[in-house]
Amino acid sequence: MRAGERFTVALIGASGLLGRAIAGELASALGAKDWRVVQTARGRADARRVKLDLLDHDAVRAFLRELAPDAIVVAAAERRPDVCENDPALARALNVDALSVIAAEARMLGAWVLSISTDYVFDGAAPPYFPDATPAPLNAYGQSKLDGERALLASDPAACVLRLPLLYGPFTDWNESAVTSLTPAIVRSADPANPPAPMDAWATRYPTLTCDVAAVIRGMLEHHAKGATISGITHWSGDEPMTKFDIARRIARVLNVDAKLVAQHTPTDATPRPRDCHLDSGRLETLGIGRRTAFDIAIAGLLANYPDVPDQ
Ligand SMILES: NC(=O)c1ccc[n+]([C@@H]2O[C@H](COP(=O)([O-])OP(=O)(O)OC[C@H]3O[C@@H](n4cnc5c(N)ncnc54)[C@H](OP(=O)(O)O)[C@@H]3O)[C@@H](O)[C@H]2O)c1
Repeated sequence: MRAGERFTVALIGASGLLGRAIAGELASALGAKDWRVVQTARGRADARRVKLDLLDHDAVRAFLRELAPDAIVVAAAERRPDVCENDPALARALNVDALSVIAAEARMLGAWVLSISTDYVFDGAAPPYFPDATPAPLNAYGQSKLDGERALLASDPAACVLRLPLLYGPFTDWNESAVTSLTPAIVRSADPANPPAPMDAWATRYPTLTCDVAAVIRGMLEHHAKGATISGITHWSGDEPMTKFDIARRIARVLNVDAKLVAQHTPTDATPRPRDCHLDSGRLETLGIGRRTAFDIAIAGLLANYPDVPDQ
């Protein structure tokens, strides 16, 4: 960036659960400064978000060349494990090939890429995981994200990967997050006419608020803007371990419903999932980057308007 120019960020996938939180954080925190954020979406493109299909490589190249951003945040992905398992070609096209195109273009333009990845690159057998731990994904989603990380960093070693665990945050549909998606079953189970709701009590998760991740990403962008670029692999995670059974009990308490929940102590998902992928966040914490909101406070805020939430 030359003196007098604005620091330009391309936010790819700004319409998703995480992308919306990043857009909100950058708008409120950076609005007064000399930054410009250009958001993209595919299905949910609108007046705020440029339409960009990552499967159209020519369009991706044209968009980036015209914008010439200083930084590119990639929050677009296929992140549903069952969809990736059933359609590995789609997972690869979005999570690997599209990222390769962005990486090559970014390198040519001198733009810094910050790409979001997942704790599912690990098998969950030996937590906590540091950024240099050996990945061993158990499912097609984790494998595609790992392949994307590798393609990005091979093409552009200055780029950065931010791995995250289970996310939750402001939502437009219960199923946007595996945290809020538990709510309808929790509420149904409180009706005496309905059977108890089974909830996974096998896997330990670290639910992480999208607004906190957005603050982390703002911190990383600010580092880059002042010439202290963060490269390679980084992790960010909430620090409250809980199973989905624990999450469901907390949601029931917030909603004040007498839920009938049954703990399931063996995995039942069709797609294999890791047991405990606790990510060590020390690398970013050492740089003074990070924010954690307590789960009970955050979920109470998110469910405050229940049941006036758009139905799925
Ligand atoms: N959600 C989690 O619990 C979780 C956990 C760990 C890591 N992550 C990672 O965090 C990142 C964000 O996830 P998320 O939960 O925010 O995902 P999401 O809510 O499913 O949003 C996906 C985003 O990708 C965009 N997109 C999908 N296909 C596209 C295409 N062909 N071209 C352009 N854009 C496309 C969507 O745009 P439209 O909707 O406008 O089409 C949307 O903006 C992903 O990298 C994911 O792997 C998520």
